[in-house]
Amino acid sequence: MEIFIGTEADCDELGAREIVKQIKSKPDSVLGLATGSTPEGIYRRLVEKHKNGEVSFARVKTFNLDEYVGIPESHVCSYHYFMDTNLFRHVDIDPNATHIPDGNAMDLNAECRKYEEMIAQSGGIDLQLLGIGPNGHIGFNEPETPFESLTHVVDLTDSTINANARFFESHEQVPRQAVTMGIKSIMQARRIILVAKGAPKAHVIMRAIKGPVTPKVPASVLQLHPNVLIILDHDAASGLTDLSK
Ligand code: PGA
Repeated sequence: MEIFIGTEADCDELGAREIVKQIKSKPDSVLGLATGSTPEGIYRRLVEKHKNGEVSFARVKTFNLDEYVGIPESHVCSYHYFMDTNLFRHVDIDPNATHIPDGNAMDLNAECRKYEEMIAQSGGIDLQLLGIGPNGHIGFNEPETPFESLTHVVDLTDSTINANARFFESHEQVPRQAVTMGIKSIMQARRIILVAKGAPKAHVIMRAIKGPVTPKVPASVLQLHPNVLIILDHDAASGLTDLSK
């Protein structure tokens, strides 16, 4: 596990550079993408790099980690909307090559199986970008999710509902369920980059990186992956520094 610690701007630049490097080495790369406030800066830099002619997404395929259940794709808090406004509409990606779970599918379990099949048919994910929840979740894999899990429907924990309420008009509007790639789906990616920013993430980062590998802290599973880069700003890394004192 490689760990980078820098300013927020350094983190965004490194995250974007790693994605550009991946696409340059394999123009038809399959990217696993994340939403949330953490990757916004990385996507901004990617858009800049695309506009500067540094990178083309023309042959790239993407699979997003997750989507809420039961809100329209056009809802400003949906992850479809997030990806469109933060990245997809600003670059030359083929919309048919972008995939996000359908949280409005009539049969959500069938949608989960279909999503796994599509990832497999694409040849698997080359580079998976991840954030981390304050409770250690990756995607919407909440604590105690089995490490063997594939894409599934999840009941969101109070911690996640509270953390995400800031994006909605009221706490009551936060969906209670989501479709998420599982821990195994994430671990099958050939390379994983986890990004965390801000002091509220310091404790969970310390547990995920230095603590025992346990489903109680889903991100701790990354210690078992052979090709992981952790990108932290100084605040998110502050627990690691304290530990070495
Ligand atoms: P955030 O969310 O980037 O908005 O902090 C990360 C996550 O919950 O995975």
